Amino acid sequence: MERPDPPLRKRSPADRRTWWLQAAGATPNQTRFFENTGQELGLADALIENAVGWMPVPLGVASGLVVNGTSYEVPMATEEPSVIAAASAGASVAARAGGFTAGASAPVMRAQVFLEGCPGDAETRLEAARRHLEAEARSHLVSMERRGGGFRGLSMARLAGLEVALVRLDVDVRDAMGANLLNTLAEAMTPSLEKALGGKKLMAILSNDAGLRPAWAEVKLTLDPDRARRITLASAVAQADGQRAVTHNKGIMNGITAMALATGNDTRALESAVHSFAGSSGTYKGLSRWTAEGGGLHGRIDLPLALATVGGSVGVHPTAQMSLQLLGNPDSPTLCSIAAALGLAQNFAALNALVGDGIQKGHMALHDRRSAWLKDQGR
Ligand code: MEV
Repeated sequence: MERPDPPLRKRSPADRRTWWLQAAGATPNQTRFFENTGQELGLADALIENAVGWMPVPLGVASGLVVNGTSYEVPMATEEPSVIAAASAGASVAARAGGFTAGASAPVMRAQVFLEGCPGDAETRLEAARRHLEAEARSHLVSMERRGGGFRGLSMARLAGLEVALVRLDVDVRDAMGANLLNTLAEAMTPSLEKALGGKKLMAILSNDAGLRPAWAEVKLTLDPDRARRITLASAVAQADGQRAVTHNKGIMNGITAMALATGNDTRALESAVHSFAGSSGTYKGLSRWTAEGGGLHGRIDLPLALATVGGSVGVHPTAQMSLQLLGNPDSPTLCSIAAALGLAQNFAALNALVGDGIQKGHMALHDRRSAWLKDQGR
């Protein structure tokens, strides 16, 4: 296809939308759908570049997820059938047993400044300049410090086999994702770090690793002993077989990513952190473990979660704001706790179906609904 002339970035959003409909060869049905679902072109244009419209993903609600004694109606944005039904089913079984207990650490994120050519005594030089560097870092974090967050640590390491040193700046970002704050801090601190350590900047950026932000959830269910045994075995399979672990974790993220998207969070950052953690032992493993205990089934999930409740598109997108309102405007650790519990509910529902009748029965009912809709549309 020929490149648009004038280029998309030089056109108005409305003009870009006209270009899109024409260039994509939209049918009248497609045009109607696109125009109905793409009203807020101005907001799309404020959120991203070269916006032509919206790609609406269905938004639904998983019902009755009990976490730390509170029952949540959980907004989930997903294109996949069965995900919300599975989350609700898992939530309902857990609610009958008192629900999930869950928690999340303080929201500490890390920025990394990579320096080339640091001399052999860079570590000593860092210690000599530490007080001055920490004070400078705090001066860039005044409003975060005022909110109870702010500077939490400064350290350095060398990358084996490379002439590159790494300076880490740890910051409590409170309810924000903190990407902008950490990137600004890393860039602002770079000249002082170069001077103090005697190296030259290669790059400065936050790490999406989120390893400093562990979240967890637990549940104890009452279940038929043979079903509990089979779920325990299925969970052990996800520890022993990497290929199964990928699907096991995909099921967990069906829930967590859907809630992250509904609340306007960065789903790519979330997923890369979680999958890195799942592989951190050197072998990719399931994030949850189920064990049969004292006549019941005990489930636990541990994973890094960096979910924001303020800032970024969370603070701009009206649907993200409604999602947070539905959840009672949680702070970031509460949202991460709900996410961990949701992932465990989703995982229980998947394993329970897999070791029982399989998942296709439920899937086919939804497939029939989809076929009926397409028929209704004359397709
Ligand atoms: C489907 O989206 C998710 C499952 O495959 C998860 C799993 O197998 O554990 C059902």
